[in-house]
Amino acid sequence: MMQDTHQLRCTGCARVIAHEDLKETFRCPECGDLYEVEYPAWSVSAATSAKRNFPNPSALRWLWKERRSSTDIKDQSGVWRFRDLLPILHDEANIVSLREGNTPLYALPRAGRETGVASLYGKHQGMNPTGSFKDTGMTAALSVARERGFSWVACASTGNTSAAMAAYAARAGMRSLVLIPQGKIAWGKLSQAVDYGALTCQLHTDFDGCVRVLSEVVRRAPVYLLNSVNPYRLEGQKTPALEIAEELEWHAPDHLIVPGGNLANSSALGKAFLEMKHLGLVDRVPKISVIQAEGANPLYQSMQTSEGRELSPVEAHTRASAIRIGNPASWKKAVRIVQATGGWVEQVTEAAIALAKAEIGAEGIGCEPASAVTLAGLKKLVAQGRVDPSEMVVLLLTGHTLKDSDYTIHYHRGDLLREDELAPLRAEIDATRRNPVELDADPDQVLRALDRVAP
Ligand code: F0G
Repeated sequence: MMQDTHQLRCTGCARVIAHEDLKETFRCPECGDLYEVEYPAWSVSAATSAKRNFPNPSALRWLWKERRSSTDIKDQSGVWRFRDLLPILHDEANIVSLREGNTPLYALPRAGRETGVASLYGKHQGMNPTGSFKDTGMTAALSVARERGFSWVACASTGNTSAAMAAYAARAGMRSLVLIPQGKIAWGKLSQAVDYGALTCQLHTDFDGCVRVLSEVVRRAPVYLLNSVNPYRLEGQKTPALEIAEELEWHAPDHLIVPGGNLANSSALGKAFLEMKHLGLVDRVPKISVIQAEGANPLYQSMQTSEGRELSPVEAHTRASAIRIGNPASWKKAVRIVQATGGWVEQVTEAAIALAKAEIGAEGIGCEPASAVTLAGLKKLVAQGRVDPSEMVVLLLTGHTLKDSDYTIHYHRGDLLREDELAPLRAEIDATRRNPVELDADPDQVLRALDRVAP
């Protein structure tokens, strides 16, 4: 039998198991915590790893660059290009890819001037094939599902995971089951799931209720769970960190700011930077901060009341529907990464999110509301003196602006926010609104409209 390249370590009790022993809910039977993938040859946590087994950092950097000019689909994928740091498959023929990753790191000069942070960038994960960062994790975990022989995959979702899962399942010729909260996800995302052929069930509950139902379903039917409790998802979600480091000529930024929902992504990016440092690919790890919406802030509350030792679920309310999550599965992983890297957890208001989204839109980039919490959070961290304006900061933009165009239209029309929400930022918001004007088909009317705004 082939030697396994990886094993799974429980992040709670540290017990190590082989992948065959992983339960269908991906929780440790001893302590109920989640697993993380480790590679005995070189992982940070693997006790046995001796430096002589480590891959050579210069050789890896060269290889990853070379692969960019290859026509092999594994090399064209921005996830599998880095497969040396995620050897989770026995047979690479099982890879299911839509050429995800290789996303742009955009300079954000206007937001940089606004916040005083001159070196400000957005890593735009919305530029993935289905329009969100979920694709990088989905290609990894769905390829594992295919290798394990599953024909059905499933997830509970606030929209983006379901869109990504449905697309990758369709590419693999597999079937997908989506559980989403009725009426609480953006249309763009729902349309993707049905278009890609998922069995889409809208449940009369919230995201947290969908998770509860699905954990029962996976115990009773042979469907493979693709929520972010699946540790293979996070291996794929490490790769944007590798891309950032590569683009910065193998340096880490000072600070990486990530939106927080179910709280898996921050830990995936943190794992990547810790692994890169361990292997000598970069010489430091950035601070990683997590930003939540004020109405869906269980991690923020946990940090305030118990320094992240306990978390009380909340009933979540925010228009940033992707992160409308009250009982996040991976909160302990997020706490660990924030604390290990010296980052912070902040919360931002609905008006601050909406304004930040418009500001990112005005850079010619755009993102969905959940992604914009990063810029709103940065403003707070600068005001608190936690981010110095001389630092290099990267915002992780998780979803494309077209995912939730309703939100954008309402913002520019001026009917997104309630009066009490709007009041503290009215002037700033009014200055960014660009409502379409309705005119007759008459050049004079268009010229008059131009006169009204031209300098
Ligand atoms: N941003 C976007 C656009 C998202 O879709 C999500 C999560 C997050 C941020 C938060 O990431 O959960 O790792 O903390 N969306 C999930 C979904 C829950 O079902 O699509 P996280």
